[in-house]
Formats: sequence, structure tokens, C-alpha cells
Amino acid sequence: MSSVSTEDVVAMYSQYPYPSPTVGKSLSYDIANLFYFLCGKDDLNYKKVLDAGCGTGQRVLGFAKRYPKAEFQGIDLTQASLEVANQLARSHRIHNITFKQRNILSLDLKEKFNFIVSTGVVHHLADPQRGLENLCRHLTNDGVICLWYYHPLGEFDRLLGRELLLTLWDADRANLSKGQRIMEQLQLRLLPEQYGTTATQKERDRNQLSIDADAFMHPIVNAYRFDEAMAMFKTCEVDWVAVNGINTPQSMKLVDLMQVDEQARELCLWDSDLFEDEGLIDLYRSLSKVNQLRAIELLTKPTGFTVMAGRRDSYQKLARRIEGNMLPKEEVPEPYPRLLRVD
Ligand SMILES: C[S@@+](CC[C@H](N)C(=O)[O-])C[C@H]1O[C@@H](n2cnc3c(N)ncnc32)[C@H](O)[C@@H]1O
Repeated sequence: MSSVSTEDVVAMYSQYPYPSPTVGKSLSYDIANLFYFLCGKDDLNYKKVLDAGCGTGQRVLGFAKRYPKAEFQGIDLTQASLEVANQLARSHRIHNITFKQRNILSLDLKEKFNFIVSTGVVHHLADPQRGLENLCRHLTNDGVICLWYYHPLGEFDRLLGRELLLTLWDADRANLSKGQRIMEQLQLRLLPEQYGTTATQKERDRNQLSIDADAFMHPIVNAYRFDEAMAMFKTCEVDWVAVNGINTPQSMKLVDLMQVDEQARELCLWDSDLFEDEGLIDLYRSLSKVNQLRAIELLTKPTGFTVMAGRRDSYQKLARRIEGNMLPKEEVPEPYPRLLRVD
């Protein structure tokens, strides 16, 4: 199959709305929790928050419910997903949110946002760089954007499974039922713990077929090393960049390069989690931030991670950890040469 378009992506999500085509009872609180560990007790009153590619809305609705005085907007290209999101908002009586059908690749909203979140979306876009630039243009002068991406080291096996499925399905990609059948014959299934076991939707409300279609049948997937994800911000209207946290099948950990976050101590990755040997810990501590991050990803092989960026000195209003992790945009290097390319 030569080229893949946004229409192919919409066709897939219309058939398999993510994360669930049915309005279950539970919401996901993982983004709400992430913000608790970024903004502490700040209740985000009157802040404007955009979820770009909100899907069927379980995550952004969990976020909106936790922060009732913030004003939320969810956008997505797939109408079928937005219909579920609207129903879910009604059934949970969540009123501080509106949903709109919009394309991130041609985004031109009238308002700007204090926070933009986008989980599992930009790495699926036909032009991720343009999508990222469009999102950053919608930040207020003190705005912060927070993205979740796949990481190629932890996702190696899953991405090989996806490649095998796409290879076998190649001649007939428009036929989604055929792709689903091959996926089932190959017994490809995303493990529930693939990205750690944080507060996700209740098991009974998860739709395994939608989750598997997203993981294995998607026509467009990118996975980024930390330096690649940070370098993508070079052409964007932001001033600083930081890696915030990693997911592995065992856990979700917050990155705290300076080891300063007392509040979230239990959740942070500690230098002693990386190396037992004191000499190696000293060597690691002597590295630049970029090389510390490189060591972290090589040792932990994440399946996913959160990367943030923001305007001006907006990092100062976030957990202290972020200032320690942060690189001014002009100090973000070009991605280093790979010894082994896996993406
Ligand atoms: C993997 S789902 C993520 C949903 C949600 N963010 C979550 O984490 O549960 C990706 C979503 O991005 C949406 N999407 C894909 N391309 C898009 C585009 N160009 N503009 C807006 N939304 C898009 C899809 O319709 C889909 O709902």
C-alpha cells in the first residue's frame, strides 16, 4: 500500500472508536492524576484546557470532573467518537466541557488554551510535525502542552506484530473486517498492563477490540526516542521542553533528574532504581540532561512517555521536578545518531 491518508485513519476510528464505542459507567483519571502531580493543589479555576484527539472522551471527562472550575474543550476528527463523548458527559452530568469535530492538521480555533493535552494522537498523524506546530500555536503566552507518545524500545515486539499484520493485509487495507480477522488469527492483543497499571478505565468498560485495532491495525504509527520527541518542538512556538514521565509494563514513573520532588517521591524514578553501583550512579549524575535521559530510556525501555513544552517561564508554576527536567528550546540538540534503529 503506497500512501495512507487521514481518511483511512477516520475510517478505522469510525469502525473502532477509541477507547470504547459504548458509554460505560467509568471514566479514566490518569490525565487528572498527571495534572495533580504537575500543578499540586491548584484547582485550575477558569483555566482553559484543550484535549486534542479526545476520542470517546473517557480521559478528558475524568479530567473535567476533577477540575469543575476549569473550562474544557475536546476535539476529534471522528464523529462516532464525539457522539459517545457527548453521551458520556451527559450521563456523568459534566457541564464544563464542549466537544467539537476538528482536524489537528488544519487547526484554527478562535481561542487559546492554558493547557493542551494530547494522548496517543500526534504519533498517529499523517504529518506529526505540522500537527504539533498547530497545537503549540493555540497556547496562551504562559501555556503548557503535554503529549503522550509510544516509545520504540518498549514497543518493539508490539510494532513487529503490527508490521506483520499490515504485511499480510496489504492488498486489501480498505477492508477493515479482513484486517480484524487477520489480527485475531495472529492472536495479536494489547496487554492491559502494557503502559503500567495507573488509574485507567474500569476493566468492564474497556473495549478490547477498539484497543487492539488502535494498537495493531492503525495505518499510521510513529514511535519516538526522547531526543526525537524534544527536537520536534524546535519549529514550534514554545520556549522550553521536558520529559515528564515514563510507562513500562510494570509501572508508571515520573522523571525527576534533579531528585527534588518530595511530594511525589513514591512515584519518581530514582537514580538508585537505575544503577546499584555507586560508581555508575556518580557517572550518570555527571552526564548532561540529554544523556541522562538517554541512559534512562536505554535502561528502562519504556513503552510510552509524556513529554511537555511551554511558553516563557511557565515551568515555574509546575512541580519543581519540571524545572530540573527542563531544557530551554535552543539547548535541545538534534537527535543523536542511533547505534540501532528500531523505529
Ligand atoms: C488513540 S485515540 C486517542 C484518544 C484519547 N486521546 C485517549 O487517549 O483516550 C486517537 C484519536 O485521535 C483522533 N484523530 C486522529 N487524527 C486526527 C486529526 N487529524 N485531528 C483530530 N483528531 C484526530 C482519532 O479520531 C482518535 O479518536
